[in-house]
Amino acid sequence: MRSFQEISLLFEQYLKASLPFPGHQEQLYEPCRYLLEAGGKRVRPALCLMAGELFGGVNDDAYHAAMAVELFHNFTLIHDDIMDKAPLRRGKPTVHAKYGLTTGILSGDVMGIFAYHCLGMVKPEYLQKVFQVFNKTAIEVCEGQQWDMDFEAQEEVSIDEYLKMIELKTSVLLAASLQIGAIVTGAPDEDARHLYEFGKNMGIAFQLQDDYLDTFGAEEKIGKKPGGDIRANKKTFLALKTREVAEAHPVMTELMQKEEDERVDGMRRLYLDLNIDEHSRNIINQYSEYSFAHLDKINLPDDRKQPLRQLAAWLLNRQY
Ligand code: IPE
Ligand code: IPE
Ligand code: MG
Ligand code: MG
Ligand code: MG
Repeated sequence: MRSFQEISLLFEQYLKASLPFPGHQEQLYEPCRYLLEAGGKRVRPALCLMAGELFGGVNDDAYHAAMAVELFHNFTLIHDDIMDKAPLRRGKPTVHAKYGLTTGILSGDVMGIFAYHCLGMVKPEYLQKVFQVFNKTAIEVCEGQQWDMDFEAQEEVSIDEYLKMIELKTSVLLAASLQIGAIVTGAPDEDARHLYEFGKNMGIAFQLQDDYLDTFGAEEKIGKKPGGDIRANKKTFLALKTREVAEAHPVMTELMQKEEDERVDGMRRLYLDLNIDEHSRNIINQYSEYSFAHLDKINLPDDRKQPLRQLAAWLLNRQY
């Protein structure tokens, strides 16, 4: 069984050789290539290929699906950065910051459509099932993103609502990447279901960690401008947990009047004073445990599951 590092490298080579964009209309496609070439961990395509490897061996269909999930992910990043007014992504100016808003919208759109184009190359016997999972997931991502935006302006958001929102905007795509990789290699339904649940819980922990890093990560490591969630008044776990603590209320009310940089510094301090970072670590660990429990239930020898276990452990502990 190959590691995440080996598999993501394989995918990287495939991506370079097989990008589906045509040679004309550079105004439209260059921004797509720009974002893809800026880097990225390639977690979703690697999950798709690793699921394939787990059950039957990586085949052409797993590669088509892996390309589809990475293109879809990059499409959501372009639009997410517009929605979040983010200046940096993968250590470079975001697509809309570099090429303009209208290009960001349209290049994002076309990349999303190319994701479907690639998925359509999967063998007919799996197509219906694969599209059903992919469409359901794509709709859920939009629903999660809408909630994320709604919550910015909403005073009261519960931690349960937040968890549902991140399940939709982030974790279902990680879960579906695994499930699709399992489908195209003919995995038993019950195993594919546990793999999906493994990915879903890992994805929730992954977004919790992303929120933590947005506030506490260093720009050169996360490739994004830290503090964006505080600036945008995102209802992250850190923000919601802080609201539960009564002493925090007057400080938060005061901070809301301050200009953005001061607000970011003040909120960071408040989170640390109240040990919110520790609460965040605890809930990440809790979701990691849920995810590993599902991995354990897959009916295969433990050593075959080791690369997935290692990937999850690395993702959820990363400090960048
Ligand atoms: C970023 O995802 C968007 C989230 C769902 C948090 P990644 O952290 O996987 O981004 P890349 O692809 O590695 O840049
Ligand atoms: C992104 O969530 C989720 C999707 C792209 C669908 P975030 O807005 O937290 O992701 P980053 O922090 O910009 O990567
Ligand atoms: Mg964002
Ligand atoms: Mg966002
Ligand atoms: Mg984020």
